[in-house]
Amino acid sequence: MKVLTVVGARPQFIKAAPVSRALRKQATEILVHTGQHYDKSMSEVFFEELQIPIPDYHLHVGSMSHGAQTGAMLQKIEEVILSEKPDAVLVYGDTNSTLAGSLAASKLHIPVAHVEAGLRSFNRQMPEEINRVLTDHVSEWLFCPTEAAISNLRQEGITKGVYRTGDVMLDTVIFNRQLAAEKSQVLEQYNLETGSYLLITVHRAENTDQPERLQEIIAALNQVQIPAIFPVHPRTRSKLDALDLRLTNPLVQLVEPVGFLDMLQLEVHAKKIVTDSGGVQKEAFFAEVPCITLRDETEWVETVQSGANRLVGADQSKILAAIESFTVDFNSLPPIYGNGQAAEEIVGYLLD
Ligand code: UD1
Ligand code: UDP
Repeated sequence: MKVLTVVGARPQFIKAAPVSRALRKQATEILVHTGQHYDKSMSEVFFEELQIPIPDYHLHVGSMSHGAQTGAMLQKIEEVILSEKPDAVLVYGDTNSTLAGSLAASKLHIPVAHVEAGLRSFNRQMPEEINRVLTDHVSEWLFCPTEAAISNLRQEGITKGVYRTGDVMLDTVIFNRQLAAEKSQVLEQYNLETGSYLLITVHRAENTDQPERLQEIIAALNQVQIPAIFPVHPRTRSKLDALDLRLTNPLVQLVEPVGFLDMLQLEVHAKKIVTDSGGVQKEAFFAEVPCITLRDETEWVETVQSGANRLVGADQSKILAAIESFTVDFNSLPPIYGNGQAAEEIVGYLLD
């Protein structure tokens, strides 16, 4: 079987790493990088650290408006599919690269496999929600990491080709955590002590593109009273500059995006994690670190239902209250996201 994989954004490299490893034992994989993310710290570092094979095609699409970016990818992926003639196209998550890959394939009648199918925020203002819904509706294989995802698909009338697998991000975390502990010097580099700092990430459009939300978040971070590290996504960096928003709290270190091994190390040793990232919410759960989510809703509902994650939106006082007092008893939490073998399960279904 020949599988053409489309990736393009940071979280997709992290999700694709274990699947690619499992897939290449039994099938041919053609890897396409759309170029949605292109900075070294947003792309190349993950290929190096996670030993992802060099892409067979790099489309160098870069940053543009949604329509222009998705359209450029669509056109270029179509050309690759026409020349490679794969048996299936594999896409991950919910970015514009996901949608372009699934649309290009389905229009050419190539079956689509979607990893992380069925996730819903029920907020159509999110570009990711549009990407997920459309991708699920043209997919042949829908690999769902949670029961909630399966139930979301059922409510939309999708019951065929739906598989419950574990979550591939857990595979990546398990595979790399020992390596991170051995190799990463990030705690020493930024003078952070285990269990006594906050890890912060912010990049979601709903927070960066609404000045009042970004202002509230920065106002909260300016009042934080314990050390914190904030690897800043390039989108957020440019919005902070454009709005002239300053993080003046000397306890908060703003740094460039970090590689995956440093990120894992930062997550595992944090006191609490403050984020609007989908992937980081799950990794906080895996690392058994309380998560404070800067959103009004989440697709990862189990993390909230189990008490490990608190939604605080972009509300200054809720953010600060959670940083101050939110605690979690991880001893009583169920293993929601599988056992770290999701990639093997997915490949098994795909090749069946
Ligand atoms: C994208 C995904 C989002 C995902 C995130 C992961 C969509 C619609 N959004 O958001 O779901 O959570 O990736 O990080 O697909 N930029 C750089 N260098 C880069 C990449 C981006 O400077 O290597 C800057 C550019 O100014 C660009 C902006 O970041 O305009 C946004 O990049 P884009 O890929 O459009 O969206 P993300 O916010 O990264
Ligand atoms: N990540 C990283 N370095 C950073 C920030 C995030 O390696 O500086 C990793 C993080 O551990 C997770 C993934 O990137 O595996 C999440 O990606 P992101 O937050 O960009 O996107 P989302 O998951 O929200 O789509």
